Amino acid sequence: MCGIVGYVGPRDCSDVLVSALQKLEYRGYDSAGIAVFDENDAITTVKTEGKLQNLKDKLQIVGKPNGHVGIGHTRWATHGEPSDVNSHPHSGARVTIVHNGIIENYQEIKSFLVGKGREFLSETDTEVVAQLLDFYYDGNPIATIDKVMGEVVGSFALGIMFKDFPDRVFAVRRESPLIVGVADGEAFIASDVPAILQYTKDYYLLEHDEIATLTNDGVSFVDKYLNPIEKELKTADWDQEAAEKGGYPHFMIKEINEQPEAIRTTIMPRIKDNLPNLEECGITLEMLKGFKSVTIVACGTAMHAGMVGKYVIEDLARIPVNVDIASEFRYRNPIVGDGDLVIIISQSGETADSLAALRLAKQKGAKILAIVNAKGSSIAREADMLIYTLAGPEIAVASTKAYITQISVMYLFAFELALANETISVAECQQLTESLQKMPEAVKYVIDNTNEVCKKIGSKLITADSLLYIGRGLDYALSMEGSLKLKEVSYIHSESYAAGELKHGTISLIEDGMPVIAVATQTDLIEKTISNVVEVKSRGANVILVCTEACEQKMKEGIANYKVVIPNTHELLMPITAVVPLQILAYYTAIHKGNDPDQPRNLAKSVTVE
Ligand code: F6R
Repeated sequence: MCGIVGYVGPRDCSDVLVSALQKLEYRGYDSAGIAVFDENDAITTVKTEGKLQNLKDKLQIVGKPNGHVGIGHTRWATHGEPSDVNSHPHSGARVTIVHNGIIENYQEIKSFLVGKGREFLSETDTEVVAQLLDFYYDGNPIATIDKVMGEVVGSFALGIMFKDFPDRVFAVRRESPLIVGVADGEAFIASDVPAILQYTKDYYLLEHDEIATLTNDGVSFVDKYLNPIEKELKTADWDQEAAEKGGYPHFMIKEINEQPEAIRTTIMPRIKDNLPNLEECGITLEMLKGFKSVTIVACGTAMHAGMVGKYVIEDLARIPVNVDIASEFRYRNPIVGDGDLVIIISQSGETADSLAALRLAKQKGAKILAIVNAKGSSIAREADMLIYTLAGPEIAVASTKAYITQISVMYLFAFELALANETISVAECQQLTESLQKMPEAVKYVIDNTNEVCKKIGSKLITADSLLYIGRGLDYALSMEGSLKLKEVSYIHSESYAAGELKHGTISLIEDGMPVIAVATQTDLIEKTISNVVEVKSRGANVILVCTEACEQKMKEGIANYKVVIPNTHELLMPITAVVPLQILAYYTAIHKGNDPDQPRNLAKSVTVE
């Protein structure tokens, strides 16, 4: 999604903007630009299609605007193709802006402005806002922004400069995230905290419809009624190093390697005397008693974490669990209400569909538990109960350490829910919790011992047009995530199938040499899974088996073309270790294909539009 930055202060503004934009590259983008008040207090805009390197090259050619106040943007195209002219910043005669989000009524506003004789250069909804600001501008920036806020519909975060005010940047948001950073004599705006960590850890979270004014004397805020307000200053607990590659070639492999620590950091403060204890998150056993049903709503990888949650909660707490895709849930008049628990899982905490699902479920009377990584994000703030995954910043677009911490939290929560509803004994719960505490070590072992074999298998997959992931039970939930990871970064088509479902149609796809990745970690299902593996193998599939030592013992020699064997742990917890080779395999397949695994084509990290 688009990234916004802005700066007011003594440093070279162009350098600050480009460097901050670099830290937002992970969000995904297809063009970039900056606008800076130059030494003559005129706004100079430089923008171009493509990566930030193109912008840097262009700045070299046309000359970097020299100044101390400016805004910058990385664009992920929504309205209008990626092109120089559609890139941000966009301007009206006296206003220049950058924008993240979507203006839903932009056609209507554009027709109005065209009727008033305005002309447009780009196809974007953003230029419409720039022109509307210019149209209403009466010398008072805040009143003008307020007037425009009353007319635009949609989600947006805006960085705004008015030609008459060369010493300041204005910012406003509705739905789309925006933070305001502060340091001595300088101020920043950014879509996300990593953009400013190189300059400051102190920031304010801008709330819906609040307007911020940044000058080098400080930052001031007004609420939606234009009353001045004081806001709470927050301090980021992520440092710059955590948001950099630290010697790894890519964020994706760095983040895979950070998983043992991420699990440890996430679970340990929530365990006491070998039992889950969520009091640190304000959740008591009492609060978890008597839910009629659980619905887990999320998107993509987070939804796959929910699939693992379904198996575990149903197994331990004996409460029916539905897992729903947020973009479906929000438009389906879902059956949730008083007495139901809805769990929203999200790394960014800003995913538009997940946020809308949360609001809908809340309005219907369900209790909301959010499992979120980004501190202070919208989903975190609007939930009734909140458990943070403490994975640290996840920069690679393909989620790895966020997923592993999401499922770790799902386990802890399922244990606590089962304990609250007395469907497991304290002793059983202690045993499960003890096993969970061993997972950081187990994950470390799997990373160290499967890297080479996955690298080799990845080199064999690059010629495949399509492949299948199969598994049963928890292994099916896991296959979904394995398949998505591979698709995202290698651009090879794959599907995940419940192994027992193959015969009902999909097996007709199997032909000589087609890779099939079979996940087998559940001994009670192994005989069934073996039958399915034999069925695809005998039809010519190249079988790659990801299995535990216990499951391997049940397999006949020669059943698989390649094997990735991982140690046995508690079988209910196997997704935590078994996901690791699937992630590493996806990573190396992308590398062997020459793809950039950190910024896969067409994808954005934080999906703040529908
Ligand atoms: C895949 C991936 C996405 C996200 C999805 C939800 O690797 O990262 O599928 O899981 O867009 O995002 P969050 O978790 O931020 O709500």
